[in-house]
Amino acid sequence: MIKAEWIERGYVDEPIAPGIDLKAEIRRLCEEKNAVIMGHYYTRGEIQDVADFVGDSLALAQQAAKTTADIIVMCGVHFMAETNKILCPDKKVLLPDLNAGCSLADSCRAEELAKFKEEHPGYKVLAYVNTSAAVKAHTDIVVTSSNARKIVDSLPADEKIIFAPDKNLGGYLNSVTGRSMLLWNGGCHVHEQFSVEKILEFKKQYPEAKVLAHPECKGAVLALADYVGSTAAILSYAQAEECPRFIVVTESGILHEMQKRCPNKEFIPVPPMSGECACNECSYMRMNTLEKLYNCLKYEWPYVELDEQLRERAKRPIERMLEISAK
Ligand code: 13P
Ligand code: SF4
Repeated sequence: MIKAEWIERGYVDEPIAPGIDLKAEIRRLCEEKNAVIMGHYYTRGEIQDVADFVGDSLALAQQAAKTTADIIVMCGVHFMAETNKILCPDKKVLLPDLNAGCSLADSCRAEELAKFKEEHPGYKVLAYVNTSAAVKAHTDIVVTSSNARKIVDSLPADEKIIFAPDKNLGGYLNSVTGRSMLLWNGGCHVHEQFSVEKILEFKKQYPEAKVLAHPECKGAVLALADYVGSTAAILSYAQAEECPRFIVVTESGILHEMQKRCPNKEFIPVPPMSGECACNECSYMRMNTLEKLYNCLKYEWPYVELDEQLRERAKRPIERMLEISAK
């Protein structure tokens, strides 16, 4: 029985019995219910450790599209769970805390995008996956940071394009593809805060270190990076490079997988985790905890629901993305 107070809070707020081995219980529930746990690289390390699959936004969508599980638990943020539901309407898609939103997705409202489209007839709309289903429904092709460049390059050179909502990713794409896409003025509150001064300070302190940055960072920050890429691309780059030390300019949750894959390399988050400020942590991603994950598996709530017509409209641009990515 789902309590009214849980509905109000957006997650199951039941105290965990003392002495319970949460990780073992979570795995037992997954077996019992044929559930899979998917986690983004930004979620807490203990969640990544208990997940069946950890990946970037593209890999999570690809994985959802092919899973045979009956239940998907998305340990990421709301738009990721929604993307899974769009691709897997017959599955139950759980999100441990319904409050796990995304400041970037919030920076673009569907009605505003629809109006902007009307004001710019003849433009194709590319939307970053960090958007609501309602925004995706107004979109021609969805992109993630892993495939955005490939998708932009797949369009005719004279195609007029609106890119929403991340102005930083859009600006970066314009610079590497030579396009002049119209950019929505949105951004991520975590990536926007990385400062040039701080990175220069770190570069001075660790001159041999390579700087890895996510394209959601501001252009001036990206200009200082040795490598710009999605979370998955950054990880692969760090693994392949001989360099022993990296300055990491993205959400600090990624350090968990970095350290796992490269135990002999040093990863320095900007700003350091040991400092007082935790502003390189996405507060939404951190809403996923082992306790909420356990409870949501136990009660099979909260889950993501979508109106069928909206789901159909939002599915097309995601499928287009998956098709182009597979080429
Ligand atoms: P990725 O596409 O690298 O998974 O990034 C998703 C995201 O939310 C970055 O802030
Ligand atoms: Fe959204 Fe930024 Fe959090 Fe990524 S890091 S989920 S873009 S708020």
